[in-house]
Amino acid sequence: MSETKVIARVAVPGVRKEQTDGAAPSSAPSPAAADAAASSALHALAPRADFPLLAANPDLHYLDSAATAQKPRVVLDAIRDYYETSYANPHRGAYRLSHAATERFHQARATVARFLGVADEATLIFTRGTTDAINLVAAAWGAANLEEGDEVVVTGMDHHANFVTWQRTAQEAGAHFRIAELTADVRIDLDHLASLLNDRTRAVAFPHISNAVGTINPVAEIVRMVREKAPRAVIVLDGAQSAPHLAVDFASLGVDFYAFSGHKMGGPMGSGGLIGRRALLEAMPPYQTGGDMIEFVHDDRTTWNVLPYKFEAGTPNSADAVGLAAACDYLSAIGMANVRAHEQSLVVAMSEALASIPGVTVFGPPATERSGVVSFALAGAHPHDLATILDEHAVCIRAGHHCCQPLMRRLGVSATARASIGAYTTLDDVRAIREAVAAAARVFGG
Ligand SMILES: Cc1ncc(COP(=O)(O)O)c(C=O)c1O
Repeated sequence: MSETKVIARVAVPGVRKEQTDGAAPSSAPSPAAADAAASSALHALAPRADFPLLAANPDLHYLDSAATAQKPRVVLDAIRDYYETSYANPHRGAYRLSHAATERFHQARATVARFLGVADEATLIFTRGTTDAINLVAAAWGAANLEEGDEVVVTGMDHHANFVTWQRTAQEAGAHFRIAELTADVRIDLDHLASLLNDRTRAVAFPHISNAVGTINPVAEIVRMVREKAPRAVIVLDGAQSAPHLAVDFASLGVDFYAFSGHKMGGPMGSGGLIGRRALLEAMPPYQTGGDMIEFVHDDRTTWNVLPYKFEAGTPNSADAVGLAAACDYLSAIGMANVRAHEQSLVVAMSEALASIPGVTVFGPPATERSGVVSFALAGAHPHDLATILDEHAVCIRAGHHCCQPLMRRLGVSATARASIGAYTTLDDVRAIREAVAAAARVFGG
């Protein structure tokens, strides 16, 4: 039997040597919060009873929250209530029902803005999610600003939503596409990133948290570095995995744009947004045209509406904005510091439990410094087969490249198995995955 208990993989192609900067992420919980979380890990921070799907399936171990989070009843109720009591096309009608719909839509924006630390709520644009938000920035800002010979920087751990979008935008503009490499324990290699930054760098886009391995990136340090070495660059933060798991304060992040997905926060699929600095958003041309994004349409030209409407073409997805606001209220009531502490204690417990199984490799930084993701491999088992076996134990995990093929190449694998957690996850889920993986290890003779 091979015995593998690895937290940081080493010496794989494209992954640079381990950096010495071992600074703990700023999101580490206080000792008191950690103690509270350790005891709360036994119980869900967000009770299963709050989630109709989980309540209806008491034996299900849902460990795929990084892909999408289960929905609390309050979100479903808010959407239903909107459709049943206040539904009409917002902004369009002179009648009271349309005013009511408009009011609910505006309230939703104010709630989501407050949740993410956005003082100027007109700078929060509703989108279909992170992918849509990044495409908006790349298309609208990129088209107006990128020129031949410019440079755009992403990282080797980016989700395709960021990586591919900027790769294509750079190529269309004739700009150079640069990739910051990773350390052995799957962090951004800050020395390498620094070496890529210069006066020609116009955009630096990276994930707040890696969806594939859970690395929490040091945003403040990267922002400082970019402002110093690449003063002409905009900084785009992919917040798909941070909005659901950390207390996010856009104002203090120091980035220019922040993209997020509602469905990963317990909100509806097809909801999310882009937050941007007002001056940049105002200077950008529209992304799509039609609907509320116009001011005046002349025969020969059109002028644009104010923010945020300039970037919200067509009938808005107001019902899902209302649902997203309910998800933000739900998370706020729990407290994002508690969410982080709860998930951190579980990710440590799950990493230790899995790494103790012979043949298991866990990828990424030490568990205490990761978000709620355990990406792993079992010797001799393809992750897809492993996920299928785990499903027989009612354990739902994801297997594949996690929309991160560049990262998989750097890890030297084609896929990993990924278990990811949320506020409704408990130590019982950890026990279930440990038993299921141990059973699979016996099948594969690891
Ligand atoms: C880090 C990261 N970025 C971007 C995305 C894309 O999000 P969406 O599919 O909701 O647009 C995801 C989704 O998994 C993600 O985890």
